[in-house]
Amino acid sequence: MIQLSNLTKSYTKAKKAVDTLSLTISDGSITAFIGPNGAGKTTTLKMMTGILKPDHGDVLINSYSMAAQPIEAKKQFGFVSDNPDSFLRLKGIEYLHLMGDIYEVSMSDRLERIENYTKRLGIYDTLNDKILSYSHGMRQKIMICGALIHQPNILILDEPLTGLDPQSAFELKEIMREFSRSGKTILFSTHVLDVAERLCDKICIIHQGKIMYDGTLEALKEQYPNTSLEEIFLKVTL
Ligand SMILES: Nc1ncnc2c1ncn2[C@@H]1O[C@H](COP(=O)(O)OP(=O)(O)O)[C@@H](O)[C@H]1O
Ligand SMILES: [Mg+2]
Repeated sequence: MIQLSNLTKSYTKAKKAVDTLSLTISDGSITAFIGPNGAGKTTTLKMMTGILKPDHGDVLINSYSMAAQPIEAKKQFGFVSDNPDSFLRLKGIEYLHLMGDIYEVSMSDRLERIENYTKRLGIYDTLNDKILSYSHGMRQKIMICGALIHQPNILILDEPLTGLDPQSAFELKEIMREFSRSGKTILFSTHVLDVAERLCDKICIIHQGKIMYDGTLEALKEQYPNTSLEEIFLKVTL
């Protein structure tokens, strides 16, 4: 379970990027975090994962406090950021072993997972090339494989489908569904509404750093009968 309470972050004095945001993500669900560009999705996910320190507020991951027990809190999840341009000098396979070492995954488990995920995402044959030579989409895929290597209970993804080709997007959605069916928790941000609609159980709409809606997709549609998700989204984020 992820619990955010009163998270607040400003980059400048004039504006709060995230404003006293409270949210609970329950276990075994796929939650889509949706909002227009600049809504505060990435800032929230960075605070949630301990990359950015909040000005105020707390993050609890499976009851571990990100401020007080950062190592334990960070062991609970895998994270894929919206910027996959890191570890460029490592070969794909070296990066995956680095992640396996960090998360103390046994060699047999990691080899099995590396083969499974990299074959499904179509990067198995390029694992001996440096990440520097990868396209943006391939970099994203290697980061996804790295986040899955310790089979965390929680997977947090920032705009994971942006920039993936149709086959890989399909495969990633399958991986996400499979992950959730095994009782695990996924939170992913997106500004693509039909992706959210087809994949998630719960939806959380963020606008100007505040939560505008948090609940099931069905309840949202009941609240706005005969309205498409796109129209609802436009109304809520007006
Ligand atoms: N490093 C930064 N410095 C200054 N302002 C930033 C920075 N990162 C984000 N912002 C601002 O914070 C707000 C929220 O941005 P962000 O969290 O990236 O939104 P989203 O991911 O929903 O598009 C925006 O107004 C954005 O311009
Ligand atoms: Mg973003």
